[in-house]
Amino acid sequence: MVKICCLGAGYVGGPTMAVIALKCPAIEVCVVDISVPRIAAWNSDQLPIYEPGLDEVVKQCRGRNLFFSNDLEKHVAEADIIFVSVNTPTKTRGLGAGKAADLTYWESAARMIADVAKSDKIVVEKSTVPVKTAEAIEKILTHNSKGINFQILSNPEFLAEGTAIEDLFKPDRVLIGGRETPEGQKAVKALKDVYANWVPEDRILTTNLWSAELSKLAANAFLAQRISSVNAISALCEATGANVAEVAYAVGKDSRIGPKFLSASVGFGGSCFQKDILNLVYICECNGLPEVANYWKQVIKINDYQKSRFVNRVVSSMFNTVSGKKIAVLGFAFKKDTGDTRETAAIDVCKGLLGDKAKISIYDPQVTEDQIQRDLVMNKFDWDHPIHLQPMSPTTVKQVSVTWDAYEATKGAHGICILTEWDEFKTLDYKKIYDSMQKPAFLFDGRNVIDAEKMREIGFIVYSIGKPLDPWLKDMPAVA
Ligand code: NAI
Repeated sequence: MVKICCLGAGYVGGPTMAVIALKCPAIEVCVVDISVPRIAAWNSDQLPIYEPGLDEVVKQCRGRNLFFSNDLEKHVAEADIIFVSVNTPTKTRGLGAGKAADLTYWESAARMIADVAKSDKIVVEKSTVPVKTAEAIEKILTHNSKGINFQILSNPEFLAEGTAIEDLFKPDRVLIGGRETPEGQKAVKALKDVYANWVPEDRILTTNLWSAELSKLAANAFLAQRISSVNAISALCEATGANVAEVAYAVGKDSRIGPKFLSASVGFGGSCFQKDILNLVYICECNGLPEVANYWKQVIKINDYQKSRFVNRVVSSMFNTVSGKKIAVLGFAFKKDTGDTRETAAIDVCKGLLGDKAKISIYDPQVTEDQIQRDLVMNKFDWDHPIHLQPMSPTTVKQVSVTWDAYEATKGAHGICILTEWDEFKTLDYKKIYDSMQKPAFLFDGRNVIDAEKMREIGFIVYSIGKPLDPWLKDMPAVA
């Protein structure tokens, strides 16, 4: 029986391994992590991450051919294929601070593998890593190998949170990069055989190591760039009276462009886009390509601009101050169908409103109060470390309360900001909400989920990103 071990039981390691176990009953899969609570949660009824369909997959295979454990060394020693899906945060200090990937966790994983391995291993990069990381990992492994043969593969993960299980069941493509030597190609084939249990062969792409590593960064940069492109156009729509939904529809009808990923919003979030672009920018700079670096940097600048533009709209429409006013925030996760808040636009929007002394009441169906408080006090990039190594902050933000109900969050509020596109926000009883609010009652839709005209009929003053402005907002000073 082939044995797989995965280091890192996070958003990537957990779901990917669960699906491999489900689709390959002849393979034993063990997911290991240095975090004790994380493994305990994977072994409980309350999984550590929320992902539609994940519970069922885990229930079907856990204890059969899927295991979660803190005994890293035992399972690494026994495995034939070792996936490494550990954190790769952005460096906050030293060389490359604010851009480069911090490979501390990766390096310690590689050293541990070299230490405990007693037989040949295939080591698979599942984490997103800078181009040429495989070379560094290879050096660590071979210099410590005691004659054992290690083959490094790059197998970046393209799943999207919220649809992870669906994406893993039917991936657009699986990408495997390996050395172009006979041993390298043999390792590529071994991993290909795992995926071939359920992925059609024409969807399994094989490349050299560097192409696979770079493809992941490039794919995320392209995706984020689409969002920044439509968001940049949304600002122009507001200035000209065009409607961004109509513009995006017309643009997306061009088959060369396509309709997906063209929804204007308050900005992209998630653990990957910003981090991966910063990483790409750093690699370009290191390779003497400042023009290319600056091109990609602009994608992040527009994203930051969109978030501050949204905050400015809120404050300027409410008589240029939100000091002491209750603002309800509906949605804190970075997108619907996930409880993940990493780099969510909601953090910057809330911080912006708090900077203007608002009192904020937040409701999100999947995010806990503890998580929200941690997010609002945490330093930039600190979230991307194993949870037990994150700096603890004893402070909480007193002006922020968290409710488990949208009606409670909006009661007595002066304004509402919709920051995540949860389906349930489309069907709330907005008349009831309006009646319970201070007047004039403002509704700022950062995700274009509500029907602005209907809301205006109820009596709200409405702002929807990139849509023709309410007369109230037109009279406000131009917003930077
Ligand atoms: P995560 O933070 O949810 O999980 C990482 C896990 O690795 C943590 O549970 C941590 O305790 C564990 N860990 C750290 N060092 C370890 C070590 N030496 N040995 C064993 N376990 C260790 O992170 P996530 O989201 O799963 O991301 C992992 C990698 O995958 C990152 O490089 C990320 O950029 C990449 N990625 C993430 C995607 C996403 O949607 N979240 C999608 C595609 C790639």
